Amino acid sequence: MEQLIINGGAALHGRVDISGAKNAALGIIAAALLADGVSTIENVPCVNDVRVLIEAIMDLGVKVEYLDEHTVKIDSRKVDKLVVDYEHIKKIRASYYLLGALLGRFNRSEVAMPGGCNIGQRPIDQHIKGFEALGATVELEHGMVKATADKLVGTNIYLDVVSVGATINIMLSAVMAEGLTVIENPAKEPHIVDVANYLNSMGADIKGAGTDLIKIHGVEKMHGSEYMIIPDQIEAGTYMVAAAITGGDVVVGNLIPKHMEAISAKLHEMGVEVTEEQDTLRVTAKHPLKGVNVKTLPYPGFPTDMQPQMTVLLSIAEGPSVITESIFENRFSYVDELNRMGVKIKVDGNTARTDGVEMLQGAEITATDLRAGAAMVLAGLVAHGETVINHVDFIDRGYEFIEHKLRSLGADIVRKTDDVDRGMFKVV
Ligand code: UD1
Repeated sequence: MEQLIINGGAALHGRVDISGAKNAALGIIAAALLADGVSTIENVPCVNDVRVLIEAIMDLGVKVEYLDEHTVKIDSRKVDKLVVDYEHIKKIRASYYLLGALLGRFNRSEVAMPGGCNIGQRPIDQHIKGFEALGATVELEHGMVKATADKLVGTNIYLDVVSVGATINIMLSAVMAEGLTVIENPAKEPHIVDVANYLNSMGADIKGAGTDLIKIHGVEKMHGSEYMIIPDQIEAGTYMVAAAITGGDVVVGNLIPKHMEAISAKLHEMGVEVTEEQDTLRVTAKHPLKGVNVKTLPYPGFPTDMQPQMTVLLSIAEGPSVITESIFENRFSYVDELNRMGVKIKVDGNTARTDGVEMLQGAEITATDLRAGAAMVLAGLVAHGETVINHVDFIDRGYEFIEHKLRSLGADIVRKTDDVDRGMFKVV
């Protein structure tokens, strides 16, 4: 098992560049299957979730070639199989995008039902509601979700909860449906817009992505295209917090400042200086920082995927802070691990309170999910002494070369590895 070993205390300085957005990449790679053609996708992040989804589409017969570390050519002219096994879904929930993409292109798909995970139950009822509204029959049998349709016909779909996954899955299934599909109350995250832009570059006719109403005029055929993925909002936010928590001065480069507004505003409220310049944000912090209240909300609100990182930052800020998680029902379980580093955070249901402590202490802790793992790295960066983080595989799901990026900013962080094959992103 790999571990990250951090000796805390160094203030971070310098510039770090942000990789492509993982969650956009997942939607876009699935969307590539809608084309009877070849797509070239640039700025694909080297993270494990992407690798797993690529394996899943290769298993369907799709040809995938890495042109360089971050550029992937996807040839989906031939798809042999419309069934995505549990083996893939259990590694990555977003394999369920293949349900919408294959249904959209072939009127048929079968994907293993995703289970819950460490942060919540995560039902997919809204995805299914969308497919059914478009005319598909959806059956759950032996752990598989099977969607079939004679033809898909556009309609109005109102989402009862704002769901990123359901919005993307419905877009994927509706782009070639007959007539007009309207998604009301869709998610507005930057990666929704990115997936829609990619679909439009493939010949789709989607308007309104990123607003309260998405209109999709069905087209007959989709073609491959060339596309570049947006920078990762959450990776950028994590490095901004890394600068703040260490009292550092970091330029976070290759990001879209607009996507960072909720995070920048909260950091600013805490007393962190955030200065915008084109595609960079410079984050400068001097301790002590002020406690603030944070509530997670769908975009443009404060992202739930930044909640653990922000909670760790608040755990060393002065004065009371209340963090309210309103998206997932079980997203504070990592706090038990952090207690071992001396945080004083009280969790009550979906709320956490902290008055802040002066110092965290290094300890051996175990990542409980992707973003909790990132939060633990941040805690390690500021803690006194050595922090050892187990279950680094969670962190590798969504952060590209995290220890290299942090080391380049002056952090003392190394990966202890048992000679694992890291050749998965080989250039061919
Ligand atoms: C996506 C992101 C994840 C992020 C989350 C919220 C990807 C691959 N993952 O996850 O990183 O934390 O958005 O920003 O993009 N819900 C239902 N029924 C449904 C679907 C969702 O009740 O059919 C609920 C969920 O349980 C949750 C809320 O809606 O409480 C939001 O979930 P959703 O936006 O769908 O999250 P994901 O797409 O799974």
